[in-house]
Amino acid sequence: MFLRNCWYVAAESREVSRQPFGRVLLNEPVVLYRREDGSPVALEDRCCHRRAPLHLGTLIGDRLRCGYHGFTFDTSGTCVAIPGQDKVAAGIGVRSYPVAERHRYVWVWFGEKEKADPTLIPDFSYNDDPAWAAVGACLHVEANYLLLVENLIDLSHVPFVHSSTIGSAEDTNPKLKTERGEGFVRVTRDAPGISTPPSMRALGFAPVVDQSKIITFKPASNIWIDIPTKDAAPVAGRNEPMQRRVMILNAITPETERSCHYFWVNARDFDLGDTERSAFFLKTVTQAFNEDKNILEAQQKNIELDPKAPTLNVNADWGGVQAVRMMDGLITAETARA
Ligand code: FES
Ligand SMILES: [Fe+2]
Repeated sequence: MFLRNCWYVAAESREVSRQPFGRVLLNEPVVLYRREDGSPVALEDRCCHRRAPLHLGTLIGDRLRCGYHGFTFDTSGTCVAIPGQDKVAAGIGVRSYPVAERHRYVWVWFGEKEKADPTLIPDFSYNDDPAWAAVGACLHVEANYLLLVENLIDLSHVPFVHSSTIGSAEDTNPKLKTERGEGFVRVTRDAPGISTPPSMRALGFAPVVDQSKIITFKPASNIWIDIPTKDAAPVAGRNEPMQRRVMILNAITPETERSCHYFWVNARDFDLGDTERSAFFLKTVTQAFNEDKNILEAQQKNIELDPKAPTLNVNADWGGVQAVRMMDGLITAETARA
């Protein structure tokens, strides 16, 4: 069961073109393409005739023709032509979805169409703000999306999973601040005087840094992680301590109950035009998030062996527990209204 009245990232903008593209989202097959004017379209990717995926079809202008027997659909999903027939009965077609493009993503709304307000699109503006340099990708993860939400809110895993990439092995005892407000959960981890994570060492930081991680979750599955880092010790030849800020944006879209699409972005407010720096972050963070993927997929398999096996909550779980409770409440309320 998923929250439906909200915007989900369906694809990176660069993935959507005049070549129809299929992706399963919230258990529904969706085909994405662009009209001739460049604006995106999202339709059910399942032909109403014999359920062939429409992304295997062909665009004729703004219309999509099924690749199996040639039924043709307009951008509203209405079937407008059937080979061998002069007429198409009214009401034949596939579902269309409200769609919007913002912050280098194509967003789709799965709930009630009249509620699809583009002002509700999460603020991922770091992704296209000229004051930031952003790199990112989409990672397919064979695990329920809430396992990834928990993973990103509870960063106590970082020293264990990521000590060779983006984490410090000493970052095990941070000062934690937690907050739950209207429509958000926030966890702040302050870790002064930790050994510098490998990714930060490569930027030229001192061997010891002060680092914070400010993690904000908003439904359904959007997480912003603000990571300011600063030299904790003087460095020869450097008058001022080095300070850098990295912002990790995370949008997770369920594929099925046991898999999700993980859209991530690493944005930085320094070395903006430096393509080598961008390539470095793309490579390092990809490596790090594949470390998460390995754990999450193994965790999912264990859960499926015995979904009732007990779990245990400790201090570090507070944020993840709050986020999952918030989602439970929202889904229950939405389902009750339906
Ligand atoms: S399945 Fe699409 S036209 Fe037959
Ligand atoms: Fe991680």
